[in-house]
Amino acid sequence: MTELFDADTVAKARNLIDRYPQSRSALLPMLHLVQSVQGHVSQEGIAFCAQQLDLSEAEVSAVATFYTMYKRRPCGEHLVTVCTNTLCAALGGDAIYRQLGEHLGVGHEEVAGEPGAPGSIMLEHAECLAACDLAPVLQVNYEYYDKQSPESAIELVKALQRGEKPAPTRGAPLTDFKGAELQLAGFFPEDEQTYRSEVDGPSQAVETLQGARLAAERGWTAPVMEDVPLPEVEKK
Ligand code: FES
Repeated sequence: MTELFDADTVAKARNLIDRYPQSRSALLPMLHLVQSVQGHVSQEGIAFCAQQLDLSEAEVSAVATFYTMYKRRPCGEHLVTVCTNTLCAALGGDAIYRQLGEHLGVGHEEVAGEPGAPGSIMLEHAECLAACDLAPVLQVNYEYYDKQSPESAIELVKALQRGEKPAPTRGAPLTDFKGAELQLAGFFPEDEQTYRSEVDGPSQAVETLQGARLAAERGWTAPVMEDVPLPEVEKK
């Protein structure tokens, strides 16, 4: 375990634990920390979390296998997620997923190339990525590429395979899967300028703000909520 998770990772795990009143609350970010080291959550990663948090391996496994963001098989340098939920699917998401699968020669949660090696890519389909107004969308390491087509998606993936990092439509600049996982664990550079360069980016789209803009122009407001007292809840 010590070979996989060095002193720096252990220090980061202790740092995470210190952020919460109860240590077990640090499990979700700690699983991201494990993925930032290994590129997935291995059995050793589960044992590491269990040991750090004084949980059983079964408790950690139950969480790691519940959430799709925790990968049980080694990921590629990049994770490409295609939304195939209703709206995206109808506007081309199914075709994007199918054609990317054919281009890469892989299916759901399979890796094209040697996992972790430069240019390797894990492909997955996902439910709604909460960007329906910009459908069809895909993500690379959870950064958004809006209004895609099969052609633009294949060009994007080819660029990733060449080692390029095309700028996402919105959000932070593209890193790689392990780098994104370290951010999801809650670790960023201390230097403000470096930190800003890693996380800053355009965060909103015109389409997303359209409703708010129309409401402002037309003076529409939401109905006032009555101040209803909350029901008493039995004390635990
Ligand atoms: S259906 Fe694709 S983002 Fe909502």
